[in-house]
Amino acid sequence: MSSYTAKFDNWIRSEFVALNSQLEELYWQQDDKANVEGVGDNLKQTLKEQGNALISDLLAEGNTDEGFDSAFDLLGNVGLFMAACRRHEITEPSRENSSPLIEASALAMHIGASIGVTPRFATAHLTTHNKAINGIYKRFTNLDDEALFLDYNTQGILAYKRASDALLKILPLGISHPVTAELLEVVKTALIDVIASNNALYTQLDTERFFNCVRPYYKPYRVGKEVYRGANAGDFAGINVIDMLLGLCSANEPSYSQMLVDKFLYMMPEDQQILREAMRMQSFMDDFLKAEQYKHTEWFQKHGKLFIQVCKLHGDTAIGHHNQLVEKFIAQPSLQMQQQHISKVTASGPPLPVLLDSLAKLRDRRAAAKRDDINTRFDDLNTLKQWIN
Ligand code: HEM
Repeated sequence: MSSYTAKFDNWIRSEFVALNSQLEELYWQQDDKANVEGVGDNLKQTLKEQGNALISDLLAEGNTDEGFDSAFDLLGNVGLFMAACRRHEITEPSRENSSPLIEASALAMHIGASIGVTPRFATAHLTTHNKAINGIYKRFTNLDDEALFLDYNTQGILAYKRASDALLKILPLGISHPVTAELLEVVKTALIDVIASNNALYTQLDTERFFNCVRPYYKPYRVGKEVYRGANAGDFAGINVIDMLLGLCSANEPSYSQMLVDKFLYMMPEDQQILREAMRMQSFMDDFLKAEQYKHTEWFQKHGKLFIQVCKLHGDTAIGHHNQLVEKFIAQPSLQMQQQHISKVTASGPPLPVLLDSLAKLRDRRAAAKRDDINTRFDDLNTLKQWIN
C-alpha cells in the first residue's frame, strides 16, 4: 500500500467516521430527521476538504497498479467518501450535471474502468471484502444499527454463497448422482441460515435509525457525468445462480435478464464470471421434469423431495426479504416520510411503488407462486410434487 493510500485508509477508518457520526447526531435531533439542509455546515465543509485533499495526493501519484485487491479497496474508500458527500447533500445528482467531486470522480473512474467494476462503492466493499483492523471494519458511522445491518448483510450474503456453491457442484455430477443428495442438504442448511439471519435483522434493527441514518448512505450518486445507482445486498452472483439453477427464474425472461445486465458491474469480477456461466446452464427443475421416466426410482424420490424442499426454502428467503425487511424498513417508513423527501427513498432510483412491484414479482418467481401476469414455475413444481410419494 502506498503511503497516500494508507493515509486515506486511516482517515476513512477514523476522522471520516467521526464526522459522519457527528452529522447524524445533529440530523437526529430535528423534528424532521430527514432534513440535512443547513445543518452542520462546518462539519460538511471539513469532510469535503479533508477527503478532497487526500484524494488529490492519490490522483497526482497516479499509481494504482498494486494488484486487484488494493485497487478494489481504494475504489471502495473513494466511494465511501463520495456516498457520504451525497448523503450530506454536499453533492446532489438532480442539482448537478456532473459531480463537483472532480478528483474523486477521476480516481474512481480510473480504477473502476481498469478493474472492470462500476466506479462507485459496491456492497462487497462494506460486507464480504471489508478488512477489519483489531476487530473494527470500515463503516460510515459508529452507530450500532449500521454495524448490525452490515453484520447481517454479510452473514446473509455468505450463506447465499454457500447455497450457490453447493448447487454449482451438482452440475458436473447430475441430479441422479448419489452425492447430489448431500449437496442438496448443504443448500437447505445454507438457506435456513439466510432465513435465520434475516429474521434476526428484522427483530433487532431499529427502523427509524436505519431509515434516517443508515440507508441514506446507499443513495445513487454521480461519478463524473453518470449517476450510479445505490449499492444493495443483492449485488453478488450467488442469489441469481440459485434462482437460475433451481429454474425458478430464467435468464431469457426480459425483466429478469434486464436486472442481471444492470447488476453485472456492481459485482466483483469473479462473481461476474460465475453469473455469466450460470446464465448458460440448464436448470435442475428442467432436469427433473425431463427425467419423468425415472420418477419411481429411489434416487428420484429422494433427490426430488430434497429439490422441492430447497425451492420452498429459497422462496421463503425471498418472502422474508420482501414482506419483512423491505416492508418494515423501507415501505412503512416511506409512508410516514414528509412529501418533500419522498423522491429520494430508494437506492436504485425508480419511484418506490415501481421498485416494490418489481421486487414483489421477483419474490413470487422465487416462491413459484401462482400468478397470471408473469411466468412462474407454479405448475411445474406441482407436477414434481405429484411425482413424489
Ligand atoms: C435488493 C431492502 C437486507 C438481499 C433490495 C432492494 C431493497 C432492499 C429496497 C431493492 C434495491 C434498492 O433499494 O434499490 C432491504 C432492506 C434490508 C435488506 C430494507 C434490511 C434492512 C438484505 C439482506 C439480504 C438482501 C440481509 C441478503 C443477502 C437482497 C437482494 C436484492 C436486494 C438479493 C436484489 C434484488 C433481488 O435479487 O431480490 N433490498 N434489503 N437484502 N436485497 Fe435487500
